[in-house]
Amino acid sequence: MSDHINAKSHDLIDLLDSDSEKELDEMSRSLPPDVTFAPNRSPTRTGRGHEEHSPLLASRVEHEYGQFENNFPDDPDYQEVIRVAESAIEEGFLPERIFQGSSGSYFVKNQEGKTIGVFKPKDEEPYGQLNPKWTKWMHKLCCPCCFGRSCLVPNQGYLSEAGASVVDQKLQLNIVPKTKVVKLASDTFNYNAIDRAKSRTKKNILEKLPNVGRHFHRIGLPPKTGSFQFFVNNYKDADFWLRKFDNEDLPISTATRLQHLFERLVVLDYIIRNTDRGNDNWLIRYEPASSHGQSEEESEWNFVDNPVISVAAIDNGLAFPFKHPDEWRAYPYHWAWLPQAKVPFSDEIRDLVLPQLSDMNFVQDLCDDLWELFKTDKGFDKRTFECQMSVMRGQILNLTQALKDKKSPVQLVQMPVVTVERNKSASGRSRTESETFTQSFAHRAPFFSWC
Ligand SMILES: Nc1ncnc2c1ncn2[C@@H]1O[C@H](COP(=O)(O)OP(=O)(O)OP(=O)(O)O)[C@@H](O)[C@H]1O
Ligand SMILES: [Mg+2]
Repeated sequence: MSDHINAKSHDLIDLLDSDSEKELDEMSRSLPPDVTFAPNRSPTRTGRGHEEHSPLLASRVEHEYGQFENNFPDDPDYQEVIRVAESAIEEGFLPERIFQGSSGSYFVKNQEGKTIGVFKPKDEEPYGQLNPKWTKWMHKLCCPCCFGRSCLVPNQGYLSEAGASVVDQKLQLNIVPKTKVVKLASDTFNYNAIDRAKSRTKKNILEKLPNVGRHFHRIGLPPKTGSFQFFVNNYKDADFWLRKFDNEDLPISTATRLQHLFERLVVLDYIIRNTDRGNDNWLIRYEPASSHGQSEEESEWNFVDNPVISVAAIDNGLAFPFKHPDEWRAYPYHWAWLPQAKVPFSDEIRDLVLPQLSDMNFVQDLCDDLWELFKTDKGFDKRTFECQMSVMRGQILNLTQALKDKKSPVQLVQMPVVTVERNKSASGRSRTESETFTQSFAHRAPFFSWC
């Protein structure tokens, strides 16, 4: 005979597994004092100890005992890092809040306590319900009209983070530390009192009434959806190094490499129309030749080695606007003030991205990849997504022209902004031979006209 669980305990299980606060309130008042359960395990359960072999129940047990939710079969490297993060959390190496940030962002650790990733949960973003920063909360409460950026889809920063990584990989820019959407739970995240209470109750039930407890879909705090970005080591804010480079001449090959990497950053930011690229939101790693991973003795013999220089574009959560920013608060690209921005685009970047960006199919593939990512959000809206892609196509059009004309990044940002709208008949993911697009140019002067 299968386990007999009375109706009330079923309700209890459903309630604790559900997300409804009202239900929890009602149920907690009518909790049965005398829940009774059959003493024996279900005959569908076979095998050793408490292991579950029935296919019907297996997935439930996987959830209960913390089996992993995040699966990236196409990307074993990413999969591996996420597994390490999940295991570390289970072993008590909990993510730590990054205190300087404006939202709830966390450094995620491995089992040695070393940071391996940056997790930004959706519900702790500035627009999220559980943003832990009280200054942001006050701002949203007291001055809602000035809160956030009117050109961005609210509360989708985590998608923007992962979307930047999609663009980066697709164009092989390799400057965004790999970022995908994952689900993680940790006691150190910001949860509301109800979630914490539910989790405690489930734990107690599992300890005291294991027969009931095993029916829960999940024990512990609910996993949060957010972006998880690989942590890059030995980097410092671009601001720090750029100031140093002002006073210290780099070897020519290193300066050229930095210029190429800078151009990749420009390409990324322009395509995703990043509204938040200050010089603290990109990082540079610089290691002069003599100290590059060698002992002093070794470096004496390898002094001809090139120094290491690399760039990481982090904090991409405020990009992919659904309209071009209004003129009076245009969120400039701060790199446009750097001397590197006055240099015409190099052949290196032209060769890397121009063939792809000039190909309509490539651009549509990119839109499709972003569709696959963005559609996973609960608040996904097809029309808003199309508007985001219209802005992005317009940016790509300008960028392609600027690269062909060998313009500089400063000249690029001076171009009038464009949107390229896909005709309604072709909306969605279907691609037809007769697809048509409408370009519209903004007549207002670009923000950088005085540059
Ligand atoms: N992938 C990464 N690798 C290494 N360091 C990182 C990474 N991401 C973030 N950091 C570090 O954490 C700091 C905060 O990160 P980030 O700017 O992404 O968070 P945030 O919460 O959006 O902050 P803010 O709103 O202040 O910009 C960065 O200045 C950087 O020093
Ligand atoms: Mg930042």
